[in-house]
Amino acid sequence: MAETREYLNYENKIILAPMVRVGTLPMRLLALDYGADIVYTEELIDFKLLRAIRRENDVLGTIDYIDRTDGTVIFRTCSREKNRVVLQLGTCDPTRALKIAQLVEKDVAAIDINMGCPKKFSLDGGMGAALLNNVEKAKSILKTLVEGINIPVTCKIRVFDDVQKTIELCETLVSTGISAIAVHGRTINERPQHTNRNETIRAVAKQLKIPVIASGGSKDIEKYSDIAKFKKETGCNSVMLARCAEWNCSIFRKNGLLPIDDVIKSYLKYAVDYDNSPSNTKYCVQNIIRELQETPLGKKFLSSQTLEQICELWDMDEYCRIKSKEYYEKGLQGRFHVTPASSLDKESDKNSLKRKHEDDDDMTVMRCAFLRGRYTSDIDLPKTRLSKWLRDNGKNEIIPIYNTWYEDKLFRSVVTVDGKKYSSTYWEKNKKRAEQGAALVCLCALGVIDEETLTKGGCLLR
Ligand SMILES: Cc1cc2nc3c(=O)[nH]c(=O)nc-3n(C[C@H](O)[C@H](O)[C@H](O)COP(=O)(O)O)c2cc1C
Repeated sequence: MAETREYLNYENKIILAPMVRVGTLPMRLLALDYGADIVYTEELIDFKLLRAIRRENDVLGTIDYIDRTDGTVIFRTCSREKNRVVLQLGTCDPTRALKIAQLVEKDVAAIDINMGCPKKFSLDGGMGAALLNNVEKAKSILKTLVEGINIPVTCKIRVFDDVQKTIELCETLVSTGISAIAVHGRTINERPQHTNRNETIRAVAKQLKIPVIASGGSKDIEKYSDIAKFKKETGCNSVMLARCAEWNCSIFRKNGLLPIDDVIKSYLKYAVDYDNSPSNTKYCVQNIIRELQETPLGKKFLSSQTLEQICELWDMDEYCRIKSKEYYEKGLQGRFHVTPASSLDKESDKNSLKRKHEDDDDMTVMRCAFLRGRYTSDIDLPKTRLSKWLRDNGKNEIIPIYNTWYEDKLFRSVVTVDGKKYSSTYWEKNKKRAEQGAALVCLCALGVIDEETLTKGGCLLR
């Protein structure tokens, strides 16, 4: 039997606004827990999603859109948010937008087109706020989606200096059949510190026959009751919150803000439960602790790199270890197990450097990650330590030779020392790191660093 779906309603809603890097699954679920009615994803660029394959992840209970070139997660969602998550797309092309919308429509509640991003890469690509000055293209994208999918389509814009021009733009966009429009009350050239043009939003809301979602109020929203003031000033019964939610997501709670340590703990629980990447987790926590980065805890936090290290600072490392073990035993393929897609194609590269090394039975391999933050001084870096160890042990004539190969934006290196080869099976993000990883394996094999130290430091991965 076909599944019946609740059509998303935009009346009287308090919404988590789209935010690059912030609006990933843990933050969206946290916002829902605290009382948000609708949650937007971060802007996802069409080209990236076109490279994705959809996978049901039985271990985490999620739907993952995986980058087929490097195995990283582009978009992760779960049934809990299915009827409330809006996927925001960055695009300048109706055909690409439709392909993606059709790919994701059974997993999300609505599609939003970003027409407000003022960043250079968006404007150069004809996306984001560039669409405000290319109304035909904007209309064509929206119309194609409205006609081509069965979930609501919306867009998010910035205002013009001229109120009337803003109203006219909105009316044109509304003529495509969209279900709602989010209006950020700043122009393309205005920055977050500028006053939000609540009056312009009010004028738009008065004129349009579809729900208008007000955006841009965070500077004046410090507690839940301030949300009602923002609604009143903009004449909108739905509003979206970005920065104030980024800083303390419990702003959605009717019963008042929670201390940030409580928010961080709840956030980290979701980050662990949904195997969120350490870099994304760190970014989000960093935006919660903000100026507290100067405190001793903040400094420790800044040097953390793994999820377990971050969790340790909020006494959640035990939880992180238990979950990681559980996921590992259930066969979860995390970031540490990423293998470039082309690497699986053994026939195509029989003569490559990679093949040459991987067929080498004599090579010592370990799964070692090079975590830059663990090295406070350059002389501690694995490559430097290896050279120094060779000198100190009377092997001046031996020079480590590094051979690195590159696939799908990931790097692996083999270091040859005294005729023996050492390599880490962990794919690094650049050549320098890959070489450091190989040197780390060599140092471990030579007994200069012991395995226990590496494991405790989160560098040796099982
Ligand atoms: C970290 C961050 C990332 C953002 N990313 C996006 C985005 O991906 N798409 C978008 O339409 N707006 C994005 N915005 C803009 C917000 O959605 C919002 O319109 C703006 O911050 C004003 O609202 P506020 O006063 O509640 O912060 C971002 C804002 C921030 C602070």
